[in-house]
Amino acid sequence: MIDRLETLEKEFMENIQKLKTEAELLNLKSEFLGKKGKVSQVLAGLRNASPEERKSIGPVANTLKDKIQATIGQRIQALEIDSINEKLAENKMDLSLTSDVLASTPHSGGLHPRTLIQREIEDVFLSMGFEVLDGPHIEDEFHNFEALNIPDTHPARDMQDTFWFHNPHDDSIKEKFLLRTHTSPIQVRGMLERTPPFRFIAPGSAFRCERTDASHEIVFNQLEGMMVGKNISVSNLIYFMKVLLKEIFKKEVEVRLRPGFFPFVEPGFELDINCLICSGKGCSVCKQTGWVELLPCGMIHPNVLKAGNIDPEEYNGFAFGLGLDRLVMMKYGIDDIRHLNSGDLRFNEQFKSY
Ligand code: DAH
Repeated sequence: MIDRLETLEKEFMENIQKLKTEAELLNLKSEFLGKKGKVSQVLAGLRNASPEERKSIGPVANTLKDKIQATIGQRIQALEIDSINEKLAENKMDLSLTSDVLASTPHSGGLHPRTLIQREIEDVFLSMGFEVLDGPHIEDEFHNFEALNIPDTHPARDMQDTFWFHNPHDDSIKEKFLLRTHTSPIQVRGMLERTPPFRFIAPGSAFRCERTDASHEIVFNQLEGMMVGKNISVSNLIYFMKVLLKEIFKKEVEVRLRPGFFPFVEPGFELDINCLICSGKGCSVCKQTGWVELLPCGMIHPNVLKAGNIDPEEYNGFAFGLGLDRLVMMKYGIDDIRHLNSGDLRFNEQFKSY
């Protein structure tokens, strides 16, 4: 039996050299130590042996059992270490890479094209004595509609356009909150907090519950502007708008002024620019007209001045609501507004400024 155990040990040691996986090792283990394994069979044979034989053979068999178990354990551990080392070698990090090599793989951050333009506009207006204001996204009916001379029956109050925070069919609710549908409520907040003369701009997001297409988004951005003082005229308004567009496009852009209706201005205008995507030929952004509505504006309605605690007999002024996203699209030749909020890095990375 001792001889048999020695042969088994040799056999085990020879076999284990050839094995390469954990599964093969575990198979070998059960081939020797399993219930019907080779070593177990020798031990079973001990039942018929004499007490002396048992005394001498038992410890040898147990030592072999321990040896097999330990060897298998060591080999499995060695395999694990090998596989970790292999993975480390595959993902080797070269810490000696120099900064110029790293710079050629640009993974640094950058500013969104809208931020780039917004900052440019803020600089232009700051240099002309305007303040830059902010306002809340969640507004009430007074600031978003009433104070802006938008009566109850105006279509802008229609459920289709406005995201309300209450049940619109429940008239018992007094304070009605909504996501601002334009940046114009900042006009009201701005007026109530100052005394004329003053001038400010207010960039920000606006929200409308409507179908999206190449030129409409549910969340979009506007830049509101307001100037209040004595004897302000339409030509003052046109002057500031022209300075703005020239600074942004770095050239004279063709513009046209049409009459436009907005309850908060009288007279109201639509300032359109020649579509820079198609150079006026007609495309999806300009809806084949060659012109893009960019800058609705006008002389502030007396009712709006009154709502802002300003005497319309003494003061007047102009206001405008620039479509900031459209301006970005025109400047960079972007043909679909939905790219702007897509979060797609392939889009964003094109505008990085270092
Ligand atoms: N609030 C208007 C809108 O979202 C845009 C607008 C028009 C703003 C005329 C103005 C303005 O300040 O004078 O459609």
